[in-house]
Amino acid sequence: MSAALKNQTETPDNDFELTGDDHPDSTFELEALQPEAEQPAPLQAELFLPESNPEQPEASPQIEFDGMQKPLFNVLLDDGREAHFQHAATLLESLEAQDVAVHYQCREGYCGSCRVQLQEGDVYYAEEPMAWLNEGDILPCCCIPKSDIKIKL
Ligand code: FES
Repeated sequence: MSAALKNQTETPDNDFELTGDDHPDSTFELEALQPEAEQPAPLQAELFLPESNPEQPEASPQIEFDGMQKPLFNVLLDDGREAHFQHAATLLESLEAQDVAVHYQCREGYCGSCRVQLQEGDVYYAEEPMAWLNEGDILPCCCIPKSDIKIKL
């Protein structure tokens, strides 16, 4: 560091004055040396979750057929946790909304990443999934329960 910088003093208006042998009476404005502050780019994340909690829908007219409510099914997990299924579009959405983490990738029945073991009960697929399923496996990303179920993650 030069002797000139050791002798810098702050003046009113954020100006700095350097004094010494190298810089006699040099004054500059600090703002002129700093580039304009850049606004940080907004964070963007790709989320697959719906914006609202599918298991706690906002009050809105529920479509009912002849006064029937959507059935409520219990979802038991092999580790003792309990969840339920009523309003969500898929079992995976429902479990995520209830803080049950299930590994997934495609969310459309192609990859098999979300595969879990169905120990009790039955599920329904609107479309037959493409992923390979072993006996007793289900894909929560594209099925809904048809009864109370018990699954092993
Ligand atoms: S996440 Fe790919 S099959 Fe379920």
